[in-house]
Amino acid sequence: MKQILITGASSGIGEQLAKDYANQGWRVYACGRNSEKLQALQNKTSNLQALAFDVTEPEQIVQAASQIEGQLDLLLLNAGNCEYIDDPLHFDGALFERVIKVNLVAIGYCLETLLPKVRSGGQLAIVSSSAAYLPFPRASAYGTSKAGASYLAKTLAIELKPHNIDVSLISPGFVKTPLTDKNDFEMPMQVSVDFASNAIIKGLAKRKSEVHFPSRFTFFLKLLAALPAPIWKSIARKMLPSAQPQS
Ligand SMILES: NC(=O)c1ccc[n+]([C@@H]2O[C@H](COP(=O)([O-])OP(=O)(O)OC[C@H]3O[C@@H](n4cnc5c(N)ncnc54)[C@H](OP(=O)(O)O)[C@@H]3O)[C@@H](O)[C@H]2O)c1
Repeated sequence: MKQILITGASSGIGEQLAKDYANQGWRVYACGRNSEKLQALQNKTSNLQALAFDVTEPEQIVQAASQIEGQLDLLLLNAGNCEYIDDPLHFDGALFERVIKVNLVAIGYCLETLLPKVRSGGQLAIVSSSAAYLPFPRASAYGTSKAGASYLAKTLAIELKPHNIDVSLISPGFVKTPLTDKNDFEMPMQVSVDFASNAIIKGLAKRKSEVHFPSRFTFFLKLLAALPAPIWKSIARKMLPSAQPQS
């Protein structure tokens, strides 16, 4: 039986992935802080074991890792959060630290303890965001953390190849989850968690170096990113809260 560990499996994309991998016969270690939600998921899903820990607490990761039996075929680092910096003139350093810690620094903590559990021939997947392709207003904390996560995944893809571990960068567009339910702006081409999970599972089965979706949205962003900077900057300026029509 193949084994996968998924962080951020108590909600949204990670929860759907945990259910879908378990349904496909994988043994799933489903992680998050919310032990009640994880326990409920374990109770109704065969082959799924809840592992409650905070990814920003290295000692908790070590404790959880001691419960893993055997080796992992796939380590999927998905846990994350999003908070926006609304006023760059009064920059919220604590918010910046919170977001970078959970979305980026914690990946390092997880890698330290969990990467040695991945078997030779196994896979590592890091969930970043298509927000990393371009600078978006208000996303100075979230986008910075995801740009770092994307860089990290691309670097590890080179470094881990000689160790026979394939690394995939996952760059979703907008997916309907509790994380995006908090957004107060239009989210073009938003997809469901089913769509996201399906795209990720298919992409990882093909060991793609980058899994991005929905492709019409992500290719459009990649195209914009390839254009001269002044073009994107003028579009981005129109997204500034001050440029939005007042209701
Ligand atoms: N939804 C989108 O449109 C979208 C787009 C691009 C990228 N992403 C990325 O996809 C990933 C999943 O997002 P989602 O939309 O599914 O969000 P979500 O529904 O809010 O789920 C976030 C998950 O991360 C876990 N998590 C957060 N902080 C944690 C911590 N300190 N320690 C352990 N687990 C923690 C949460 O579990 P607990 O609360 O139980 O700890 C939860 O399971 C994130 O990395 C996000 O940035 C999402």
